[in-house]
Amino acid sequence: MKKLHVGLLIGAALVVGLSAIGGSAIAAKKKGWGKYQVDDRRSGYTYTAKETIAIQDDELGNPASLWLDEGQALWSKKDGKAGKACATCHKDAATTMKGVATSYPKYSKKTGKMQNVEQRINQCRTENMQAKPFKYESKQMLSMTIYVKNQSHGMPMDVSVDGPAVPFFEAGKKFYFQRRGQLDMSCANCHVDNPGNMIRANKLSQGQGNGFPTYRLKWQKPGSLHRRFRGCNKQVRAKPYGYGSDEYTNLELYLGWRARGLPVETPSVRM
Ligand code: HEC
Ligand code: HEC
Repeated sequence: MKKLHVGLLIGAALVVGLSAIGGSAIAAKKKGWGKYQVDDRRSGYTYTAKETIAIQDDELGNPASLWLDEGQALWSKKDGKAGKACATCHKDAATTMKGVATSYPKYSKKTGKMQNVEQRINQCRTENMQAKPFKYESKQMLSMTIYVKNQSHGMPMDVSVDGPAVPFFEAGKKFYFQRRGQLDMSCANCHVDNPGNMIRANKLSQGQGNGFPTYRLKWQKPGSLHRRFRGCNKQVRAKPYGYGSDEYTNLELYLGWRARGLPVETPSVRM
């Protein structure tokens, strides 16, 4: 592995320890992480401090439960010109939305592109409810996405990367390994080459997306996977892409494949 340029890292106030390691470091040893590890794939859960994990695992104490409750309330609330709620068509989410999140992003015949859960929710809002789309990072969108994904809690991620998804998967994969920004680093430089190593105050994980939207203690609220992508792009001083952009939706598909078999953890809690 090319040694990371420490000077640049210090310049960007990132720092510490990264230059010392060589080789691919995905911990191959099984550490008894149970369902949070499948082969060499490990959820961020397994890299997160015990105190933070305890917050996630406490059903009442998980601060994202407020957003989950909000999503549940929105589910049955009529909105838009058609006078419908999600529940009008989808009835009980515990049944109809169970497992749905494991297969997203998914190819949409209608748009000819990949569609993530947020985008599918907005399609239902505009077409089936004749209601305004939710803004991507709004409280409503985060709440509804958390609610829908939470119906698949504990179920293994299983996105399709065959058939019409192939070119989108390839684009997402290319993005993942492309070096970018002033620090000239790819996603893989941090999340494939260095999981387990410290960067600033954080222990690097494999950068898995199975817990999103995640409640970040730093944000004091939940944020979408695309918000995280933007943050990671900015860390290397690269231009972030837009929320819901094709670039990020394809990247999300690649991450869905990377996470195959890992459980949907939404809403996870992270530093
Ligand atoms: C007028 C009926 C109607 C309403 C109202 C409606 N939907 Fe849908 N929804 C559908 C139909 C039809 C589909 C496509 C089903 C399929 O592909 O099998 C769908 C699909 C979905 C899917 C993808 C399911 C899958 O298996 O891939 C999600 C998620 C979803 N809707 C969420 C919502 C949410 C959240 C709301 C409220 C904001 C909502 N829908 C409102 C009719 C509706
Ligand atoms: C300079 C190192 C660095 C690069 C490059 C980087 N990230 Fe990250 N990323 C981090 C840090 C630090 C965290 C927080 C600790 C952790 O989970 O690794 C993080 C967290 C994440 C998480 C959240 C993991 C979880 O369990 O909640 C995802 C997803 C992620 N990154 C994806 C990406 C993607 C996709 C790219 C490429 C666009 C990328 N990262 C590039 C440093 C980086």
